[in-house]
Amino acid sequence: MAGSGNAHMRPEHGPLLSVDDMVVEFPVGRRQVVHAVSGLNIDLLPGETLGILGESGCGKSSAGRAIMQEPAPTSGGVRLAGTELTGLKGRSLRRDRAKMQMIMQDPVSSLNPRRKVHDLVSEGLRIWGYDGDDLDGAIRETLTAVGLDPDTVWDRRAHELSGGQCQRVCIARALMMNPDVLICDEPVSALDVSVQAQILNLLERTKETYDLSMIFIAHDVSVVKNISDRVMVLYLGKTCEVLPSTDMQTRALHPYTRTLIASIPGGEEVVAADDPVAGPVADAKPQAATMTELPSPLNPPSGCRFRTRCALATDRCAAEEPQLREVGPGHFIACHEVAAG
Ligand SMILES: Nc1ncnc2c1ncn2[C@@H]1O[C@H](COP(=O)(O)OP(=O)(O)OP(=O)(O)O)[C@@H](O)[C@H]1O
Ligand SMILES: [Mg+2]
Repeated sequence: MAGSGNAHMRPEHGPLLSVDDMVVEFPVGRRQVVHAVSGLNIDLLPGETLGILGESGCGKSSAGRAIMQEPAPTSGGVRLAGTELTGLKGRSLRRDRAKMQMIMQDPVSSLNPRRKVHDLVSEGLRIWGYDGDDLDGAIRETLTAVGLDPDTVWDRRAHELSGGQCQRVCIARALMMNPDVLICDEPVSALDVSVQAQILNLLERTKETYDLSMIFIAHDVSVVKNISDRVMVLYLGKTCEVLPSTDMQTRALHPYTRTLIASIPGGEEVVAADDPVAGPVADAKPQAATMTELPSPLNPPSGCRFRTRCALATDRCAAEEPQLREVGPGHFIACHEVAAG
């Protein structure tokens, strides 16, 4: 039930969730394939918030859904608390995945319009056949925890709620399953700015209260940076940089990351500090990239997928895919031209 401890689920050491070389492809027509996610690796530590950042269409939601096995990835592994989820089906999948919940991208349309709030919030538990006497009490407790008055919203349907209230219902739905891992897919991008802050605060408080690890997916640099411990930057289905969020403003190196930072208000003023390991970053200035349209994931560029928008690109970038390598503590980058040597 919501609010009880999760510590028993956790392995003594190592990540709570591991994603290993995950590939997500969608066949289109007879011959074509959308390469939505191409070899993603994630280790999510207990209590950690990992931000996944990238522009629209870079594969963030596909990655989140594949981690949830909705649908399962084309290839690669997903281990939750030591259990491999890929290959599981039906009841065993639902059982072993129950400790991971996902808040889907669009809060309003992710809720069944015919169901009332108390039904929506308890749906997951009822699917499991839970009909304890205290179910109503648990629903009330969870609605209160997400800042909703149970008496007011109990019998409402999604269209009778604001966007922020819908998102609170989605969070309550997830919390009812007592998860260890919460995947939030763009949880605030559909909301008014004033409501965004409330939902972000709620998620941060919830994380502490319910002892959660979180994957926080968004395209907004400031939002991701503020809520995350680490940030993974995704471009056309591949990771181009992973770094501690406290280093985002000062140490981000990949031309794509720097372009994203430059696109936020005041972001152009950000000047990366020289890194003792990676060396000077003068070459990595954001103007290194020109943000034309995202190339098609049907036919991603060879080598470095970012090269077609990167002013630093050389022949090597077309011929050879850059691998992620460590350039500082907890800081990884996949780029031939920046921080080379
Ligand atoms: N079911 C599907 N069938 C075919 N292509 C798909 C499917 N789902 C996603 N895609 C494609 O995969 C790519 C990645 O999409 P995805 O929704 O994962 O991106 P995203 O980073 O979440 O974008 P956004 O920020 O707009 O939510 C896109 O080109 C998208 O059109
Ligand atoms: Mg998405």
